[in-house]
Parts: sequence; structure tokens; C-alpha cells
Amino acid sequence: MRRRRGRFLVLEGLDGAGTTTQAQRLVAWMREHGRKVHLTAEPSGGPVGVMVRQVLTRRIAGVPGARGAAGFDAAALALLFAADRLDHVAVEIAPRLAAGVDVVSDRFTLSSLAYQSLTCGDAPWVEAINGRALAPDATLFLEVSPATAVRRRFAASAGKREIFEVPAFQRKVARSYRNGIARLRALGQRVELVDGELAAEAVTAALAERMVTLF
Ligand code: TYD
Repeated sequence: MRRRRGRFLVLEGLDGAGTTTQAQRLVAWMREHGRKVHLTAEPSGGPVGVMVRQVLTRRIAGVPGARGAAGFDAAALALLFAADRLDHVAVEIAPRLAAGVDVVSDRFTLSSLAYQSLTCGDAPWVEAINGRALAPDATLFLEVSPATAVRRRFAASAGKREIFEVPAFQRKVARSYRNGIARLRALGQRVELVDGELAAEAVTAALAERMVTLF
């Protein structure tokens, strides 16, 4: 008998929207309901993902005075995110789905459509370089205001900020996410909006409710 392919779910939102907490909680809920689930995140733990994290934390710097918030060329970073994604799918995601295991990823293509479209100023190009990335069965977007996102993130990080974690930027990211969601929907992908301002338990319950139809 052929094994049924696993489901591929993605959590998305602003920095501080709660994607990491909710990905863990959703996975716990799925396991309680008898699913085999693999939890992952982007940037991935693979070689390109490690390089991306080094750029985000300024361990790798670009040419002094170059474009981009970190001095690292924004288009080069967009290509690294896209390359990490293809490697992540090939090495970690696709083999598990084929083996009947569900995969939940904390961020995926929609993050690039939101962040890199903004930093590169060229949404069609960002969409094109991500065109080969696997389409998730559902992308779950946690909606929080930019103010909530920045407040939560700042509280969690003891004052240390990554390059995208500044309030004015998060407001622009929120707008860019809306465009990205519209693009994915136009491509026929399923994107669900969930109120991320609620208490953690209520957010997980809302996510679970949207998910039952998938299994
Ligand atoms: P994040 O997911 O918040 O991880 P951590 O909690 O470990 O800091 O950080 C990843 C950052 O990278 C976040 O600011 C969003 C950004 N990002 C992109 O700009 N493009 C992408 O394609 C992805 C996956 C993330």
C-alpha cells in the first residue's frame, strides 16, 4: 500500500508575531492527535541557512557602504534565502513528506515575498527566484500589529536586535506581507489569517480549527 504523503504547513508573521511559539504548540497538538510531525524553521540549519543567520546577526558583513541594512547586498541575501529554501526542501522537507510525516516550518516562501520584496524593491524578481520552492498545503499567517510585534520581540531579546527588528521597518513588512499573501492566493495557494494578538492558547486553538480540514 502506498503511504499517504504528509502535510506541509507553514507559520508566518512579523518578527514577534509568535511563529516560533505557535509552531511548537501546533506540532504538540498534531502529535496529540496521532500525527507524526517534523518541526523545522527558516533560515534552516543547513549550510546556506547558517550563512544567512550570520548575515542577519552581522557576523558576515558586506562591502562597507553597500546597499542593505546590514551592509550586505539585499539581492545577494534574497538569493541566499531562496537557495536555503531549495536545499531545505530537498534535504529535510520532501523526504519526510514522502515518508508520510507532516512538516511544520516556522517561516517559508511568504517571508521572502514580504521581507525581500521590500529590501530589494522588486517583488516579481523575488517571486521568480522562489518559483521552484514547494507549495505548502497551507500557510498560516499570525496577524499582530507592528507595535505588538516589536514590543514582544524587544522584551524577548534583552535589547539585542537582528537587522530587520526595527519598528518603522516592521510597519513596512506588514504591508508587504499583505501583498505577498495576495500573490500566493492568486497562484492558488491556501493562506489562512489567524489573530495573533490573542493569548497563546487561543491562537493555537484557532490554528488547530483551521487545520482539521487538512487531515
Ligand atoms: P526569525 O525567524 O525571527 O528567527 P530567530 O527567532 O531565530 O531570530 O529570524 C529570521 C529573520 O529573517 C526574520 O527577521 C525574518 C527574516 N527572513 C527573511 O527576511 N526572509 C526569509 O525568507 C526568511 C525565511 C526570514
